[in-house]
Amino acid sequence: MDVKIKFEQQDFYANISNIDIKKLSDTDFIKVKNIVETYGVVSIDSQFINDDDQIAFSERFGKLEVSIGTKTKAPDYNLANSTTPIRPEISRISNVDLNDKMLPIDNSKVIFDRGNNYWHTDSSFKEIPSKISILSGREVPEYGGGTDFIDARHALETWEDKPRKYSLSDLNDCICEHSIVYSRKNNTGDIFDEKFKKDMPFVKQKLIRIHPYTKRAAFFAGSHCSHIIGWDIEESRELIKEINDWIIESGEIAEHKWKTGELVLWDNRRVLHKGTGYDESKYRRIMHRTTVAGDMPSYLEKN
Ligand code: OGA
Ligand code: MN
Repeated sequence: MDVKIKFEQQDFYANISNIDIKKLSDTDFIKVKNIVETYGVVSIDSQFINDDDQIAFSERFGKLEVSIGTKTKAPDYNLANSTTPIRPEISRISNVDLNDKMLPIDNSKVIFDRGNNYWHTDSSFKEIPSKISILSGREVPEYGGGTDFIDARHALETWEDKPRKYSLSDLNDCICEHSIVYSRKNNTGDIFDEKFKKDMPFVKQKLIRIHPYTKRAAFFAGSHCSHIIGWDIEESRELIKEINDWIIESGEIAEHKWKTGELVLWDNRRVLHKGTGYDESKYRRIMHRTTVAGDMPSYLEKN
């Protein structure tokens, strides 16, 4: 196993080569897991895997989430009439349907996926937010279609380098409400039906979380984060915007440009990510994600 670190100063973004995730010993698996938790983002070269391989590897990190894709999308999502069903642990981010046909750019699934092009942390709109996401590049566009990562821990650790209205100790116990209905409304328009909106109410998340492995704190915000409970809503949205802006300004952006067969893992408790977008009318893009579930709601964690 060869490991290279991209941003040493922030302990951020590692690349691993010369491994086969289908045949990892327990010792090597623990090494990979520690690298993900230490560096926040890890790309692994040349893993030409199928869904069963991806799920088997991902389950070594813990229980997997069931994709909201299985219950969100409108009939034209093409899962229902597909001849090749997809396993519920897989979130498919793609403009190609399961019958291998490119979807039009105004298709609800394509619009939904476009919402990934805003900085976010996966599943913060779920009562129990995720730990780690594992994304496999099955088919990637020739131009565009990258994924960017940014370090919300570095942002927290440098927050007080600038004059601030609120110090970290003012923010330490804040609890926010997150919602994908809120974030998609801001970013892609009002795309969900009433049933989905009812099924996906706001959930509570801590604004500052301490990572169980590194014991270092990070902001937990991103586009699903709407407001702080108990604060004036506008005042809290201004602060959340200031935090999200600082996350993006304060540190290095790791720009991942995909090659087919790469696997990228990131720690949702520490980093934000977003897609860079691509010409959906011209290029096919097929990405399959598994997501390692968290253990409990973040507001029950102690800082
Ligand atoms: C994701 C995601 C961005 C991309 O899979 O969670 O946000 O580049 N993906 O597809
Ligand atoms: Mn995502």
